[in-house]
Amino acid sequence: MDLVNLADYERAAREKLPQMAYDYYASGACDEITLAENIEAYRRIKLLNRVLVDVERRDLSTTVLGQPVEMPILIPPMAFQRMAHDEGELATARAAGSLGTIMTLSTFSNCSLERVAAVATAPLWFQLYVHRDRAVTESLVKRAEQAGYSALVVTVDAPFLAGRERDARNRFRLPPGLTAENLMVAEGRDLSEQVDSSALVAYFAARLDPALTWKDIEWLRSLTGLPVVLKGIMRADDALAALQCGASAIVVSNHGGRQLDSVPATIAVLPEIVEAVDGRLEVLIDGGVRRGTDVVKALALGARAVLCGRPVLWGLAVAGEQGVRDVLSLLRAELDCAMALCGCNSVGGIDRGVLWRPADSGGKS
Ligand code: FNR
Ligand code: LAC
Repeated sequence: MDLVNLADYERAAREKLPQMAYDYYASGACDEITLAENIEAYRRIKLLNRVLVDVERRDLSTTVLGQPVEMPILIPPMAFQRMAHDEGELATARAAGSLGTIMTLSTFSNCSLERVAAVATAPLWFQLYVHRDRAVTESLVKRAEQAGYSALVVTVDAPFLAGRERDARNRFRLPPGLTAENLMVAEGRDLSEQVDSSALVAYFAARLDPALTWKDIEWLRSLTGLPVVLKGIMRADDALAALQCGASAIVVSNHGGRQLDSVPATIAVLPEIVEAVDGRLEVLIDGGVRRGTDVVKALALGARAVLCGRPVLWGLAVAGEQGVRDVLSLLRAELDCAMALCGCNSVGGIDRGVLWRPADSGGKS
């Protein structure tokens, strides 16, 4: 089968993966309204091509938190990647490095943060889930810093893990032989236990801290010199609070439609957040990025860069490291073409001028 776009990779991965793994990766919360909306909202935004601009040379590189990347497409944290391929996060990290971009490693990776750091050739960020047991949290932060991770991405939209009904029906748990290697055996053990619904939901309820507040972000900042990125911001007031507590960046994210169902698409709330923070911190976005034109739209609306999630897992399932490279290369090529057709030579040149404003919008997009 020819794999010419990211949707093709999903179909191919679906054929290869065990049902429990495919469902865990693909699913969203409850009715999956937000999951669908993340994709649909990009489709509703229209671009306007600009002609007769010399676009022979184009530069896709940029910086994120001052760190150079070869394209404005990063990899968000995604748990349990060895369910897709035996090499799991190691393969994803190698692929990210070969494309010159940043991978964010999940707290719930199947390969330990130290093993992933050992194979990385580009900067890595570490995603932190704050455990009730602060010693566990503190040790994760220290280990990430020690291993050379260059940012701490604190996920703030999951005080509870939302119910994903496919996982509940499958009684989701880690398959035999896989562990969450960052967690000590005693902490992570229950992820492979059979429970009535999802073992991950049970783990969150038992171990993660639903009492987390802005004060704890200040505590985290006191633990580390790493820049802190807050992931899961959907409102302008929360973005301003992130700024206040010293975050270096935020990820506008609804967890890929996996947490509160029926929140809007991330691209729909991006403009008001960008306006509120007014350049005082970097705004990244994830959720539903599947085409190069989606990246152009997100950057035009003020995102510094995007993170593309599930398609990376589909590439990993189809062909390991090479599959992830192929997925990222496809998306990069689409972005390159879309930029050229919009008359943009550089990432910095993408602005609201590339968006189509319907005549009845009073000139506002
Ligand atoms: C995630 N996401 C996630 N986020 C996080 O902060 N920590 C995590 O461990 C995970 N794990 C995870 C697993 C899987 C299978 C998926 C699909 C997602 C959310 C992720 O970082 C990101 O926000 C979304 O995946 C972005 O949406 P798209 O690109 O998948 O639509
Ligand atoms: C998920 C968690 C682990 O979305 O963030 O499955």
